[in-house]
Amino acid sequence: MTLLDGKKTAADIKEEIALEVKNLKENGKKTPHLAAIIVGNDGASLTYVNAKVKACERVGFESTLIRLTENTTELELLNQITSLNIDDNIDGFIVQLPLPKHINEQKVLMAVDPKKDVDGFHPTNVGKMALNLPTFISATPFGILELLERYKVETSGKHVVVLGRSHIVGSPMSILLSQKRTVGNATVTMCHRRTKNLKEFTLKADIIVAAIGIPEFLKADMVKENVTVIDVGITRLADASKKNGFRLVGDVAFEEVSKKSEFITPVPGGVGPMTIAMLLKNTLLACQRSNS
Ligand code: GUN
Repeated sequence: MTLLDGKKTAADIKEEIALEVKNLKENGKKTPHLAAIIVGNDGASLTYVNAKVKACERVGFESTLIRLTENTTELELLNQITSLNIDDNIDGFIVQLPLPKHINEQKVLMAVDPKKDVDGFHPTNVGKMALNLPTFISATPFGILELLERYKVETSGKHVVVLGRSHIVGSPMSILLSQKRTVGNATVTMCHRRTKNLKEFTLKADIIVAAIGIPEFLKADMVKENVTVIDVGITRLADASKKNGFRLVGDVAFEEVSKKSEFITPVPGGVGPMTIAMLLKNTLLACQRSNS
């Protein structure tokens, strides 16, 4: 069993980005600048956004965190987005999801200038991704592709089963892995909550991407020997023995499934850290595109 170490790989990528930033600065070019908007006080979302901002500082980016209160109106948020769209100093920005219920998420995502949409959530960028055209690939699927590439996990001709059809992970992952690309050329089956006899699919999979948000859903009796498992799940479970009162659990019963795996990502320290590294990579890309 080989652990797909997202923490180490993300650190390598951030080091590469920091070098690029140093080069940009030495050549009198613009320093990449990422902005993040967060609405409300959701604990997990605040943790993620703060981690993104901190990561910017570490690689030498500029960063701006815009915190809006829970009762911010949709119009106020849209106005904030317009300001960032026209601000030449900002190369890319994200609106942290989920948003409060009174705000239409689709309307908000569509307001972001596709050239600054480093999350890759705008329909224009989703469309380009589906057509295998240059764009911003969303951080989580992008991070998974990068992890598979750096560990030389063969995907060509393999049977991949994606669990989950979310717009952020399951759907783009299934599209990307079936495309003609370095990490791709796989035969992909996408399963979701209406799938019947799920185990029949997972037992046939060479690679499983689990992105359903149900803690320890994938058990050892559902996978074949030498499977590769990518665990995208990250659920906070109450745990009084922990200082912060919770522990992080993935969608995979790691203890038992790892024994049958050729490659597997841990939680935490697998896909999670990769998403931040790839957001930085997209921001660097946005900056380079606007420089050229
Ligand atoms: N919420 C969960 N994942 C993400 C992400 O990748 N980007 C944003 N903006 N919000 C999220």
